[in-house]
Amino acid sequence: MGEKKIILGQFNTKSNLWLKPQVKEFIKNSNCKIAYDPFAGAGDLLTAVREQLGFRSLIGLDLDEALDWQVNDSLIEIPKIDGAIIITNPPYIAKQSASRKKIDLSMYFSTTKYDDIYLIALDRMLEAEDFVVAIIPESFINSNYKQKYRLSSITILEENPFEDTENPVCVACFDNRIKDYDEIKIYKNDKLINTLQDIMNIRIEPKNNINITFNTLKGWLGLRAIDSTDDIKFINFDFKENIKYDWKNRIKTSSRHLTLIDIGITDEFKNRFIDECNKIIHDIRIKSSDVLLTPFKGNTKSGKRRRRLDFRLARAIMEQAYENIIRSGKSE
Ligand SMILES: C[S@@+](CC[C@H](N)C(=O)[O-])C[C@H]1O[C@@H](n2cnc3c(N)ncnc32)[C@H](O)[C@@H]1O
Repeated sequence: MGEKKIILGQFNTKSNLWLKPQVKEFIKNSNCKIAYDPFAGAGDLLTAVREQLGFRSLIGLDLDEALDWQVNDSLIEIPKIDGAIIITNPPYIAKQSASRKKIDLSMYFSTTKYDDIYLIALDRMLEAEDFVVAIIPESFINSNYKQKYRLSSITILEENPFEDTENPVCVACFDNRIKDYDEIKIYKNDKLINTLQDIMNIRIEPKNNINITFNTLKGWLGLRAIDSTDDIKFINFDFKENIKYDWKNRIKTSSRHLTLIDIGITDEFKNRFIDECNKIIHDIRIKSSDVLLTPFKGNTKSGKRRRRLDFRLARAIMEQAYENIIRSGKSE
């Protein structure tokens, strides 16, 4: 992959599957006559709305002088255009990954607390226009982005709209109205699944009131933290002996996939504890339509988005399982 492509995040949106019925409705209802992409790349999004929604006025900007657009650094400022709706897929580069790849983005990151360029891009877009449609990482749903109240909907795309990257994404539609989270709709593909408020209600946070150590060979509890592609092995907790894995030699290198956890539970309660953890994770997955779990690159064979249980949520689940067992022990 070319260096410029990585530095500028040049992954164009080749397929139109992001233009779901609810996204089309949102764009139509904005009554905007100009489609505006401040990170225009090959212009694929503008072409899509011209062909599918009849936009005649298209404006694109890009930092790359080799492209046919007016040159603009849209992470610094996006010029306002009357009657325009921004429709874009900004570059995504996490601060950590930029420094790992020796890409110097300090001029953007130095003035913000954000950990990814796309959040800076969102700020600039929402400053410039009332209506914004942005294809951004799905992890945005669980972020603390401060202007979420301007969202109208979020559409998770399970199919990959890109040819050259597998980043899990969603389409975020913003307008200029301040809303409660229960007015903000979450769709998976074409289907309405929840409101943002529902998702917030299901979320549990760790209290850090129990000693739990991750990634330790001393641990008795195994965690498969990522769905496998085979549609058989999903995220689950189990005795380490029940998970076929060369724990001794590999725990350090693949600790995001499978990990050993140490938590003080007496032997007689271990079975119940594991069942309780798996029940909580199952309930969270069903109630949130999986949205609370971190998306993981690539789908399962049947086309479901794979998910990862991050250690923060894993900790919160174990704390709750522990509490449930103590509570049920007391009432027995
Ligand atoms: C992910 S691509 C998306 C292209 C197009 N919106 C699409 O979806 O097909 C991001 C584009 O933003 C451009 N870009 C990167 N940094 C930029 C900046 N600071 N200002 C303006 N454009 C930038 C890149 O050159 C690239 O063409």
